[in-house]
Amino acid sequence: MRLECILAVVLLALACDPKKPGPVTFAPVGELPERAEPPALLTSFDGAVPVTDGAGWYDFRRGELKALLTHYVYGAMPSPVAVEVVPQANVPLLLPGVDYREYAVNVEQSWLYVAVFSPSGVTRPPVLLGLNKCGNHTLVADERVRATTSLVISACDGSRGSQSALWPVAEVVAAGYALATFHESDAAPDDPARYRDGLIRSMQVEGSPAARWGALSAWAYGLSRAVDLLQALDIDTQRITLVGHSRRGKAALWAAANDERVAAVVAHQSGRGGAPLTRDGSGETVELINSAFPHWFDGVFPTFAGNERRLPVDQHALLALVAPRRVLLSEGDDDAWADPQGSKRSLELARPVWPLLGAEPESKTRWQTRPGGHEINREDWQRFIAWEKGE
Ligand code: GCU
Repeated sequence: MRLECILAVVLLALACDPKKPGPVTFAPVGELPERAEPPALLTSFDGAVPVTDGAGWYDFRRGELKALLTHYVYGAMPSPVAVEVVPQANVPLLLPGVDYREYAVNVEQSWLYVAVFSPSGVTRPPVLLGLNKCGNHTLVADERVRATTSLVISACDGSRGSQSALWPVAEVVAAGYALATFHESDAAPDDPARYRDGLIRSMQVEGSPAARWGALSAWAYGLSRAVDLLQALDIDTQRITLVGHSRRGKAALWAAANDERVAAVVAHQSGRGGAPLTRDGSGETVELINSAFPHWFDGVFPTFAGNERRLPVDQHALLALVAPRRVLLSEGDDDAWADPQGSKRSLELARPVWPLLGAEPESKTRWQTRPGGHEINREDWQRFIAWEKGE
């Protein structure tokens, strides 16, 4: 072959070889530039390679964003481990139309007690899965539901059925859904002095402040271990939806971002560290959230207090990690602390990722608000169910 031809072949090959982005680096806050706008989602971290299709997203950009959120916000999570499942109670018709089953899930000697309420006589129902604050036994008054032995925090009324207004179990099940839940203290008590008494103690991740996994990562990891359990049950594993209110909405989003077996996530009033952008957010600040809840995030996020614009990642990336699956952000008009408008903007910025992965953002993602403030009630659950059904 003539030299010109050989050169032409080499040049052609170089032109067709997609450029590989450089590695992600994790500079401390003082070395990062201020950026008023959140970082572009569809360009590599080094700014050199545009993401134009699903291949680019999965080859590098998705991993970059996950690594950035892990380092700068939530802290590391261990890799999934195999769980041991020990069936506990099995009570037909605990409530009219509601069968009840309970499972002890052993995660490296931390036990998650997962309660599953399901429609009697229905095979493979879709399932809603969420953390509960005070113990499975606070959802319904029935004595056959195991009372938690994990920490019941002082903000809880730990009596049977005390949380039933927040958990309309019979209505959710009557709509055709299984409802699965476990006490968040099984994974990590919501207490700065005790949050390690669960998964974190039995699965210590050692290392830098970024490696510290706080309660949000422990809750998200626990949700994934509950998803492991759901794989083996008579439910529709293609329709697993995570549901969480407020701090549990933050955890639900982080779990859905990490666990692609989850089909949909409903984050109700997730607030700072959840759906809303951090850098131009109103409502709760990085400083306030980390001083009131020093156990939620990793050791790096608090260093951005007052310097939110230096964050090299923002929460639109969290939403984008759920693509092409489904996201509902549900807000309250009077819930300024949770920054409903910041959550709207975050979703708008994340939406271009869906078409890249062959999905329509209009049908897969929704931001909605309702009158009222910071609470979860029966009507909210009805809205979540209507959305899951595609209404
Ligand atoms: C506090 C906290 C929020 C959180 C909320 C909740 O208000 O500041 O970040 O979302 O509690 O979990 O209800």
